[in-house]
Amino acid sequence: MSQRLTTTAGATVPSNETSKTAGPRGPLLLEDYQLIEKLAHQNRERIPERVVHAKGWGAQGTFTVTHDITQYTCADLFSEVGKKTEVLSRWSTVAGEQGAADAERDVRGFSLKFFTEQGNWDMVGNNTPIFFVRDAYKFPDFIRTQKRHPKTNLRSPEAMFDFWAGQPESVHQVTILMSDRGIPKNPMHMNGYGSHTFSMWNKDGVRHWVKFHFRTHQGHKTYTNEEAERLIGSTRDSYQEDLFNAIEAGEYPKWTLFIQVMPEQEAETCGFNPFDLTKVWPHSDYPLIEVGELEMNRNPENYFQFVENAAYSPSNVVPGIGFSPDKMLQARIFAYADAHRYRLGTHYEALPANAPKADVHHYHKDGAMRFFRNDTGNPNAYYEPNQYEDAPRADPAVQEPPMKIDAEAFRHPQVITDEDFVQPRKLYAEVLSDDERKRLHQNMAGAMAPCSDSVKERWYAVLGRVHPDYEKGVREASESQPAIPVTDSTPVTAAE
Ligand code: HEM
Repeated sequence: MSQRLTTTAGATVPSNETSKTAGPRGPLLLEDYQLIEKLAHQNRERIPERVVHAKGWGAQGTFTVTHDITQYTCADLFSEVGKKTEVLSRWSTVAGEQGAADAERDVRGFSLKFFTEQGNWDMVGNNTPIFFVRDAYKFPDFIRTQKRHPKTNLRSPEAMFDFWAGQPESVHQVTILMSDRGIPKNPMHMNGYGSHTFSMWNKDGVRHWVKFHFRTHQGHKTYTNEEAERLIGSTRDSYQEDLFNAIEAGEYPKWTLFIQVMPEQEAETCGFNPFDLTKVWPHSDYPLIEVGELEMNRNPENYFQFVENAAYSPSNVVPGIGFSPDKMLQARIFAYADAHRYRLGTHYEALPANAPKADVHHYHKDGAMRFFRNDTGNPNAYYEPNQYEDAPRADPAVQEPPMKIDAEAFRHPQVITDEDFVQPRKLYAEVLSDDERKRLHQNMAGAMAPCSDSVKERWYAVLGRVHPDYEKGVREASESQPAIPVTDSTPVTAAE
């Protein structure tokens, strides 16, 4: 027997097809409240899309510890080999809107929410181990250059390369973006990285700096520009299709989690800034240490409820895992929760996508959509400090060890040195094959084809600082590019 169709208040509905009218030809009676309700609900079905990473694909799964890292962290989720923790993932492109095609050239977001017994730990990373800029002041401007031009309403290569040329430290990430890795076949065929340096501390209060790496078991698979163009012509949702179908078919994607570890004091002597997000840590000095396995094995029952409503934030850490002095990371600790309050509402952490498996007891109260219980069973304990023994209390035992900071607070100027080009140079000259370099030249030349000559020249100069062959290769590939009609690259004057 079918279920009753009801109003939102639970009463049975007589019809979901026929309006209540005065006679068969109308007019409509305002008292047909369920029709009004239906139209009003439709008007409220959308929420703001994420300001970045709007297009995404998610899954649920499990993380299992395979190796003991308790010497580095007292975090409960890593407390014993074999321990399992539920995870909600969301992968995304950065620039495209919610309806954007999946197989576009872009960095991919790689977000994981670990529902640990000590609360949620979020790893909000990317599929690249580094980032374009290293100061949070530059993030909103950078994102603006990735989004649409305010007048043309088109994406603007002129803006992208103008910005990158002014931020030469971005060349490392731009090289990865324009390489074969720039269009992964789907999220199952890419690695994930915490990218920033984080910290871990153990039961004795000893801190280490840590980088997180999730390495795909499926192998790296990517599309060329031509393959992606053909694919997008036939489907814009190739990632959603691949991921959803693989999980439905029982082909569960897996990743191995590794960490790189640096003793706390070594940050002062290691010869590079370990908190600079535009650089990797050399694996020769800081080898990968295996930790566990991530398997994503369930499609969420409802996309909106679990993927659109998912609210990831680098501020979500658990005892034993902490931040680092990386100033980009520090800015992100503010930005995400603020974005969620705006996009989802004050009580976003209580939504099914985000609700911790751990007990939640806090003294935040009420407000819109306070739909959950948040007291402790003692109605008198609604403020603190209070006299009640059963009231929620903070526990100083979970406090992270003190961090010594002995420095001058100042707006330290950003200086570009050869150090900013060493890693991209190694990537270009030693890691990429001849064929990969050729495709890199062509991809970059194609991407910058609509740019003005002045922007192109400034970017070639950055490439030249990486390697003369890089500059030469992209120049030559640019000269053989077909002319592109200038639309969005036309400079808009200040008067406009
Ligand atoms: C100061 C620098 C940054 C700021 C201010 C910033 C801000 C934001 C904001 C506001 C969102 C939208 C959140 C939402 O509405 O749900 C977002 C999403 C995201 N960001 Fe960042 N971001 C920064 C840097 C980074 C970096 C360096 C990474 C990776 C290493 C990153 C990875 C992501 C990912 C993966 C998402 C999507 C999360 C999801 O799947 O819901 N961001 N960022």
